[in-house]
Amino acid sequence: MITLITNIKELLQIRESNIKKVSGKEMATLPTIKNAFLVIENEYITNFGTMDNCPKINADKTIDATGKIVLPTWCDSHTHIVYAGNRESEFVDRINGLSYEEIANRGGGILNSAKKLNETSEEEIYNQSKVRLEEVMQLGTGAVEIKSGYGLTVEGELKMLRVIKKLAENYPIKIKATFLGAHAFPTEYKDNHSGYIDLIINEMLPKIAQENLAEYIDVFCETGYFSVEETEKIMEAGKKYGLISKIHVNQFNAIGGIAASVKHKALSVDHLEIVTDEDIEALKNSETMPVALPSCSYFLSIPYTPARKMLQAGLPLALATDFNPGSTPSGNMNFVVATACIKMKMTPEEAINAATINGAYAMGISDTHGSITIGKKANLIITKPITSYYQLPYAFGSNLIENVMIEGKIIY
Ligand code: NIG
Ligand code: FE
Repeated sequence: MITLITNIKELLQIRESNIKKVSGKEMATLPTIKNAFLVIENEYITNFGTMDNCPKINADKTIDATGKIVLPTWCDSHTHIVYAGNRESEFVDRINGLSYEEIANRGGGILNSAKKLNETSEEEIYNQSKVRLEEVMQLGTGAVEIKSGYGLTVEGELKMLRVIKKLAENYPIKIKATFLGAHAFPTEYKDNHSGYIDLIINEMLPKIAQENLAEYIDVFCETGYFSVEETEKIMEAGKKYGLISKIHVNQFNAIGGIAASVKHKALSVDHLEIVTDEDIEALKNSETMPVALPSCSYFLSIPYTPARKMLQAGLPLALATDFNPGSTPSGNMNFVVATACIKMKMTPEEAINAATINGAYAMGISDTHGSITIGKKANLIITKPITSYYQLPYAFGSNLIENVMIEGKIIY
């Protein structure tokens, strides 16, 4: 099956295959071709260039993209899409003055979601989660990382990871699974942290590895959740089973989780609402991708990741949604890109780089996703006719996507 897209007003994010991420000043450049064509064979990009070099081929399908912009689909490297029910009543509690922390301290928050998850069947969780997955695909997401972490019991964590596996089998988009048993301490382990960590290490991890249910391991490293020492112990244990770390750090406090994650060669450190000079130093010259989650900052009214300061220091940055029932009930990467521009003062070029190639890096798929590159998956957003790609963040409340292609097939 050959698909030819012609007359593309502008084709964004064209890269050589050796580019795995972009950092610092490089992030300001978004390579593009105006008046372009693109050839797709089965699920792969096989050719692109300017219209004057458009090959005369017998395509099975031709799409005329006059006035439209084509870019790679978003790579959302941090989500908690699999959950049961919602936490809309906590949302109203926050409007009425309670903080996220106060809600968590009285048994709400993550423990509230864990209770719901453990009471819900695997099939029902799958049915609720697939609706969210289908929604984000229509919003232009072509690859997504999904975490466990609302089970907090052996059975609950396995149930979540099996749902993630089933989604990965049934949907064409790339899905990466992360084990986040260390998301919060269940009430019965409130005064027995080492007991819960032993459960993670001795009961959950071996079963997950045996069933091959996760590639990454995550810990919520934060005051009142998992200490840096506990986080390191879990990263170490994960490593023994071949799980690479992607760590929740610096959401509310900088407690040294970034340096510890870099030391353990984490693939990414995520949240980063509070970032110190020491944190920036720790990330310099490392292979760890910092990941900002601006929709979480927006929803909880907490600080935004200091993107300018980090890019100034030469660091890369990725953007993701954090889609979850408590801190970010939205999986809209378009909103993330717009919010990064509006609130974090990232330029449209920087934000698009952060949400495509750097997002792909942060979930270990930049060989196959995140850019328009020959040999990569044909995962494309085709916009409506728009004046320029600046419209994507500028018209922040509009849906400018006309079509989404995943692995060579238009899904929307
Ligand atoms: O990334 N910060 C930790 N975990 C999630 C939120 C969890 C929840 O409130 O359900 C996050 O924001
Ligand atoms: Fe998260």
